[in-house]
Amino acid sequence: MAILVTGGAGYIGSHTAKALSRAGLEPVVVDSLERGQREAVRWGPLVEANVGDRGALRDVFHRYTIDAVLHFAAFISVGESMQHPALYFQNNVVNTLNLLEAMRENEIGKIVFSSSAAVYGLPERVPIAEDHPLDPVNAYGESKRMVESLLEWYGRIHDLRWVALRYFNAAGADLEGELGENHDPETHLIPLAIRAALGKMPHLEIFGSDYETADGTAIRDYLHVADLAEAHLSALRYLNSGGASAAFNVGTGQGHSVREVVAAVARISGRDVKVRESARRAGDPASLVADPSRAATVLKWQPEHSSLDEIVRTAWTRMQNHC
Ligand code: UFG
Repeated sequence: MAILVTGGAGYIGSHTAKALSRAGLEPVVVDSLERGQREAVRWGPLVEANVGDRGALRDVFHRYTIDAVLHFAAFISVGESMQHPALYFQNNVVNTLNLLEAMRENEIGKIVFSSSAAVYGLPERVPIAEDHPLDPVNAYGESKRMVESLLEWYGRIHDLRWVALRYFNAAGADLEGELGENHDPETHLIPLAIRAALGKMPHLEIFGSDYETADGTAIRDYLHVADLAEAHLSALRYLNSGGASAAFNVGTGQGHSVREVVAAVARISGRDVKVRESARRAGDPASLVADPSRAATVLKWQPEHSSLDEIVRTAWTRMQNHC
């Protein structure tokens, strides 16, 4: 059984392609390689194409017997989305509309979409459950909310069932060290803290130490990418067993501050992580923590590798050789 994996050369898509293959499914990756990496596609064929290319999608649907789509392909940088919103609306929204049309033409009726905690905006309460108002504060989050709306309408009007997984902070690397996180430019806390530990950066900047949190730094819900990959398999099983369309938070329910992350990197690497405290990054909420109980109850999914130590240990192991 083949599963179309858009963005399968990216960080989360590649880890999920490996998990699919482990589960006996064939991941057929469509990735433009604009931001993904060819060497991350190792568990099935790679079709080098943009999701906005209807002809390429048609070819894929004719060539392979695709049962469902996992849709990762997107730009993910909040800062960039506020400088170049059109890039985000084109790539994340318009190209998804093209994918949905191609699915409809080819009668493919199941999709799991990579949404984000960014759809909630500044949280009114933490932990955040799925019924929290959606009020994004950046164009990236808005692009994810717009796709959730597209899915909603396609589900109502056409024969499409969907799951939107609202990711909290994906982190860590493949448990066997075969894949890792490699964004260019890198903006995420854990890889940057490891770069600082490796001496590849003079120091890590802590964006804001005056938040109303126990140690003054911002709190996030870090989820191991292997657990996130498994959430996609759970979502597929849910759709295959007739589950109704829905959005689910994917997080652990536990938050960690920036200083806690830095301390974990220092402890696990045995190195000094030099830090410099600087201003808050625009649009960063003090605390983003999931209430993941709907995914536990309905998808029967629970994280197994998401202790901060296991996240940092796998990222550290991988980055020592690939950085
Ligand atoms: N941080 C620093 N220094 C850095 C980098 C990050 O202090 O050099 C802080 C941030 O201010 C934040 C925390 O570390 O408080 C985590 O930052 P990341 O950039 O690693 O992750 P974000 O929480 O900003 O972003 C994640 C996803 C985005 C998504 C966003 C909101 O990566 O795709 O959550 O859901 F949009």
